[in-house]
Amino acid sequence: MPPQITVLDAGGQYCHLIARRVRNLGVYAEVAPSETPASSLAGRKGVIISGGPSSVYDPGSPTIDPALLEAGIPVLGICYGQQLIAHLLGGNVQKGEHGEYGFAQLEISANDGILGGIVGPQQVWMSHRDTVIEPPAGFHVLGSTETCSIAAIASPARRVFAVQFHPEVAHTPCGSAILSNFIFDICGCKRDWDPAGQIRAVEEHIRQTAGDRNIFFFVSGGVDSTVAYTLCLKALEPERVHGTYVDTGLMREGETELVRRNFPALNIEHAASEFLSALAGVTDPEEKRHIIGEQFVEVQQRILESEHYLDGHWILGQGTIYPDTIESGGSAKADLIKTHHNRVAGIQKLIEQGRIVEPLASFYKDEVRAIGRELGLGKELIERHPFPGPGLAIRCLCSSESAAPERITEGWILPVRSVGVQGDSRTYRPVLALEAFPAEDEAARLTNRTAGVNRVVATVWTAAPLQDLRVAPAGLTEVRLARLRRADAIVRSLAHDFDQTIWQFPVVLIPFGIVERPDSVVLRPIDSVDGMTARSVRMPEDLLSRITGALRNVEGVGGVFYDLTNKPPGTIEWE
Ligand code: XMP
Repeated sequence: MPPQITVLDAGGQYCHLIARRVRNLGVYAEVAPSETPASSLAGRKGVIISGGPSSVYDPGSPTIDPALLEAGIPVLGICYGQQLIAHLLGGNVQKGEHGEYGFAQLEISANDGILGGIVGPQQVWMSHRDTVIEPPAGFHVLGSTETCSIAAIASPARRVFAVQFHPEVAHTPCGSAILSNFIFDICGCKRDWDPAGQIRAVEEHIRQTAGDRNIFFFVSGGVDSTVAYTLCLKALEPERVHGTYVDTGLMREGETELVRRNFPALNIEHAASEFLSALAGVTDPEEKRHIIGEQFVEVQQRILESEHYLDGHWILGQGTIYPDTIESGGSAKADLIKTHHNRVAGIQKLIEQGRIVEPLASFYKDEVRAIGRELGLGKELIERHPFPGPGLAIRCLCSSESAAPERITEGWILPVRSVGVQGDSRTYRPVLALEAFPAEDEAARLTNRTAGVNRVVATVWTAAPLQDLRVAPAGLTEVRLARLRRADAIVRSLAHDFDQTIWQFPVVLIPFGIVERPDSVVLRPIDSVDGMTARSVRMPEDLLSRITGALRNVEGVGGVFYDLTNKPPGTIEWE
């Protein structure tokens, strides 16, 4: 299906959110590289240029084919998109040092075009360093904020519009009206998109691709592979679709049973003892990941060979979703684990031979969920948070040494190292534990100010005074995994409603406690759009006390901490 709107990607995470919003308004949109030639965009009803982290003055910063601005197709620039339009058309962009991040009030001076029907002032979300200080000839200013006098511009004659703020984020309540004005009033788009309405077409695509061949799947229990597998079961006779679920022993409580209950025909490959013995004595995060990747490869290859899936009668089904198909999208880590899986020689061969079907390759996660609901899959399968391929292994931290916490002015440095990301580099550093919850934003300041740490947690409860807790040698043992599984299950059941309001809520076990209670639990609820950046979220007081009360009763748990770190500088997973 040809898209009516193309979102040109000027850098990373922003473009997918814009395309998702347009689709949510009922118009099919796709993402393309910013430099896509204008000639390839002929036939589009409109084009949106996304935001991005660059400055138009950076060497090699993303640009667009200038012909696009002369082609008569309506164009909307967002954030960097506005700066790029101004720069290319002879306006003036000023390089900023500090930038503007967060809420601003938009005063509207002309509510025509994209601001049609919107009355100011309006709350908008800003995230930029450079600003347009002079619009190009033929443009007029539609709105401004206190610190940004040119927050929206328009040239109705050229049909080119731009905003400095982000209409695609929820923090800009009028954003959806702005996008709607652009796609319907200015571009003249027709509603053509409803993901659940695509099911029949997807099933037809599966039948066409399969021909007289059968399909097999590695089903992980996650939303994507589950929905893709179900679509294939519906499209073909069930006996032509084989699915295998690998029980790595690193799954959550009840996970394997849940999958079994929902898909009785699935083969379950029990591989927990293989995974655990390969991981015995390993404490380094990268080594854990590597070993898990290798184990997957071995198990998958064994299954491929034993079932004759490699002969010409079978093709591989995969739950790849739209952001995974585009280079800039999705999570870098998600790509990493996929490379592990795709490295299986057998799978690689099938892909090279084109023997693959990916029924969800044009859908976003929320659309996959909508399809799953339409297919009648239960909430417990559809509404779950993303769960990393290596499972609880990257939430069960290990240590090869013994160490005590160290007192500093702000709190305690816990000698438990976790992974973080600063700039483009990975860090692996200790944690700063505060004795209580700090004022808002204080945690972010402390993480930046405290040398040598990449995370800040608040102490919620400890079985003994914090200075008496110790880090002790600990690996990925069955006992510790069971402890984490229990803690995670408790949090899942108590935070069920809260979970619906956030992106993800990892529960992490760290080897820090007292002799009879050697581990602590870290709660890590975060909000995010795509996992690339994230904000720590505070849960309601009473929920935290119920969770803590229940965790205190878990065997071996000597403390509860609350992770206050955003990403960056801390990653979502502790590893
Ligand atoms: P980080 O920890 O890098 O996580 O901030 C970003 C998002 O990616 C998920 N994640 C993974 N997903 N396989 C996956 O399928 C992996 O190996 C993996 N590692 C991290 C993580 O849960 C978060 O949503």
